[in-house]
Amino acid sequence: MAKSALSFVCQTCGAAYNRWQGKCDACGEWNTLAEEDLTGATTMPVSIRSKRKGRLFTLETLAGKTQDAPRLSSGMTELDRVTGGGFVRGSVLLVGGDPGIGKSTLLTQATSLLARAGHRAVYISGEEAVAQVRLRAERLGLADAPVQLAAETSVEDIVATLSEGAVPRLVVIDSIQTMWTDTVESAPGTVTQVRASAQALIRFAKKSGTALILVGHVTKDGQIAGPRVVEHMVDAVLSFEGEGSQQFRILRAVKNRFGPTDEIGVFEMTGLGLREVSNPSELFLSARDLGSPGTAVFAGLEGTRPVLVELQALVAPTSLGTPRRAVVGWDSNRLSMVLAVLEAHCGVKLSGYDVYFNVAGGLRISEPAADLAAAAALVSSLTNAQLPTDAVYFGEISLSGAVRPVAQTSARLKEAAKLGFGRAVLPESARGDIGSDAGLTLDSVAGLTTLVADIAARGQGRQGQAIDPEKNATPSRFRHQDG
Ligand code: TYD
Ligand code: MG
Repeated sequence: MAKSALSFVCQTCGAAYNRWQGKCDACGEWNTLAEEDLTGATTMPVSIRSKRKGRLFTLETLAGKTQDAPRLSSGMTELDRVTGGGFVRGSVLLVGGDPGIGKSTLLTQATSLLARAGHRAVYISGEEAVAQVRLRAERLGLADAPVQLAAETSVEDIVATLSEGAVPRLVVIDSIQTMWTDTVESAPGTVTQVRASAQALIRFAKKSGTALILVGHVTKDGQIAGPRVVEHMVDAVLSFEGEGSQQFRILRAVKNRFGPTDEIGVFEMTGLGLREVSNPSELFLSARDLGSPGTAVFAGLEGTRPVLVELQALVAPTSLGTPRRAVVGWDSNRLSMVLAVLEAHCGVKLSGYDVYFNVAGGLRISEPAADLAAAAALVSSLTNAQLPTDAVYFGEISLSGAVRPVAQTSARLKEAAKLGFGRAVLPESARGDIGSDAGLTLDSVAGLTTLVADIAARGQGRQGQAIDPEKNATPSRFRHQDG
């Protein structure tokens, strides 16, 4: 037993085997087993195992008085929104994201703001030298913040240092993949090391009441590298996303023990660091392609916040036997469903067309409420009919072709009215939830057939008349926000 210290560990799920094999039986991934030295990770010295007697602890009642998880506001509203109102004492957060997306920038800003507010905030960088972190802070205009900074990778040294003096309120470890602990022999970055280092740091956070943020790398397919177990060990997993070419960044809670998981924080990467975007609709609509067929504005909801975003569809004739369906920012199964309903119930023939679908601004939509807007964009592109530029769309489409109501109708309408839209296309049955003063013209549709007929009629009308680009011109209220 003691001789076979070397073992093979799946780098995706952390399952251990005593000989190499091509496929991990636990998670089904191929070629993920790597040889690691597991001494100390799975086996405990016999002396500890047998001699230690259980310590007595007190058992509590459910009704007992618990100090309400005291939260510490980060000073960034968008970050607080995603964490559920601030960092909870003793909680551990894992922040994942592609390299260069801005994780270090975000956390430098958060630690600096906390330090400025008089809290002990520590930033441990395992990837960059102190000078590099300073350079970034200077660029962000935060060099004067009393953040405690170090470039260290040994977990034992870090825990010893942090245990000195006042308990830190926030500790950032950038990144967990660079940390290593003496208790296991594997190289830094391997599953065993990441797991053991995370365990030691989490133990420190829980014991001291420090809020701990671990930065995690993301693999090519978007998963946080290292064992998935780290995701299970932490209280919250936040993912920082964005398109490389665009300056928007979206912080999303994938898991959160202390708050909601459907809230998003929106940031913009500027030359001076991340700027919070408190009104994302303006951002997602700012570069709107006004008046071209194939675009529809969806009045969506991200968590508690309404967000208006442009959906774009391109339906183009194809010579391929199996037409192409490409989706960015939406579920491809959802798109297939909407296409099938259009085909089956509305007589829209799409089998001879490639369909490309995109959500503008790099946002990812998961709400079924986007169905109606997506269908409108698709039919608009197919018939080359421009949709009214001052209309928003929302509603879920059922397999029978009916348009079903969605939650929070009035919040969506309010946001649309605020941004100058004049009309909303929405499920018929939603009318009941709306107060009399929606401030918009309401176009309710009971079934998808009605919508398709409306749009198709516009298309024919448009083709029939001479092309007059001013005919459907932008209402003046859009022009100012567009510029
Ligand atoms: P960084 O926070 O280092 O990313 P990560 O830690 O996720 O790898 O951010 C790196 C990118 O951000 C880099 O491409 C430069 C850009 N950036 C700005 O555009 N403005 C800024 O003020 C800063 C600090 C970075
Ligand atoms: Mg970094």
